Amino acid sequence: MKGIKTAIVGCGVISDVYMRSFKENFSIIEPVACADLDESKMNELAQRYQIKPMCYDDILKDESIEMIINLTSPKAHYSLSKQAILSGKHVYSEKMMAVTYEEGKELCELALEHHVRFGAAPDTFLGGGIQTARYAVERGLVGKVLSGVLSLTRDYGVFGENLPHLFGRGGSVLYDMGGYYLTAVCSILGGVSRIASFGMRTEDVHKVTRVGSPLFGKDIPLEEDNVITAILEFQNKALITLHLNSGTIINESYHLELYGDKGILRMGDPNTFCGKVILEKAQNEQVILPFTHGFQRESRGLGAAEMAWSILEGRPHRASMEMALHVMEIMHGITTSADSGKTYRMKTKFKQPKPLPEGFIGEGFWAAKEESALL
Ligand SMILES: NC(=O)c1ccc[n+]([C@@H]2O[C@H](COP(=O)([O-])OP(=O)(O)OC[C@H]3O[C@@H](n4cnc5c(N)ncnc54)[C@H](O)[C@@H]3O)[C@@H](O)[C@H]2O)c1
Repeated sequence: MKGIKTAIVGCGVISDVYMRSFKENFSIIEPVACADLDESKMNELAQRYQIKPMCYDDILKDESIEMIINLTSPKAHYSLSKQAILSGKHVYSEKMMAVTYEEGKELCELALEHHVRFGAAPDTFLGGGIQTARYAVERGLVGKVLSGVLSLTRDYGVFGENLPHLFGRGGSVLYDMGGYYLTAVCSILGGVSRIASFGMRTEDVHKVTRVGSPLFGKDIPLEEDNVITAILEFQNKALITLHLNSGTIINESYHLELYGDKGILRMGDPNTFCGKVILEKAQNEQVILPFTHGFQRESRGLGAAEMAWSILEGRPHRASMEMALHVMEIMHGITTSADSGKTYRMKTKFKQPKPLPEGFIGEGFWAAKEESALL
């Protein structure tokens, strides 16, 4: 089958996960080239997957390349995606699409103006876990969703001593991890209308004390809050509490729970495709729901592949720029409310992406290939 000719920009850690996924799971994407400021990383990826190492400008000039997948670090997303959109290429960006809401909004407007598709991670909401949870909510298993809790705790002091962008703008726990939680819940419940939040920075400057870290002895400023609580009022009136703390101990804890008038739904880690979905009904034991949907393994690249199929079929793609921008505005609203002490009113709206079709699980001799769910 002929795929959509695609170039990767950013040949770091996650590029290998995407490339493996395209090779093994998604025939619709045909990677042909890659670019990176770091030539050694670019050449290594190119050699491993038999694609062409190219400078980014040449990729943009190459008319045979239809789509760019932007896997650079968050601060580089905006300018590289903008150049690609202006060159008439479809773009799929890793999270977040930009580091400010204003930049994200500009990218979305440019994509509309230039008649190209723009999609953005996270795509884990298309995985078996969150799709099964949505299926359960839409079939009324928890009744009307009244409230919910989204919570993640980590220690970025430890991670950041090796990945210093986690201390910078666009790298804080809200931007780096909050998107998984917010995208999952927005894909199930729809959009947010109002936000009230508080934020705190546990230190203004982080001193790197890890012996062996290339940054040992350096002082790195924290550019954003690392402890955040927010109340999100959804358009359907559900009140969801978001709690993020990257200043605590390294043992990660996460919660993604929805409380309805007929039941409680607990989901697994939204940074994976296979989080367990647990249903609790009044006066019953909790049960683990069987997955109703495929893509239960590591399937990063699923959002880009679904977008590629949508381009071919002329329908809207699911990891849409509208939903991603709404999530960026929620983050913007959280920081604005925390800074001003006022409630933030959301402006953007999005249409909930259609759920994936039920089934398409497994790769048995008779079973349809998972990718068939994207047609
Ligand atoms: N690492 C993960 O587990 C993971 C998981 C999910 C999503 N992501 C997201 O994927 C993206 C990349 O993450 P990563 O972990 O691969 O980072 P990384 O630092 O390993 O790789 C980023 C690459 O982008 C390149 N780059 C930066 N600016 C560039 C520019 N202007 N032009 C060309 N190349 C440029 C860097 O040289 C580097 O090789 C981020 O948005 C991150 O949030 C990462």
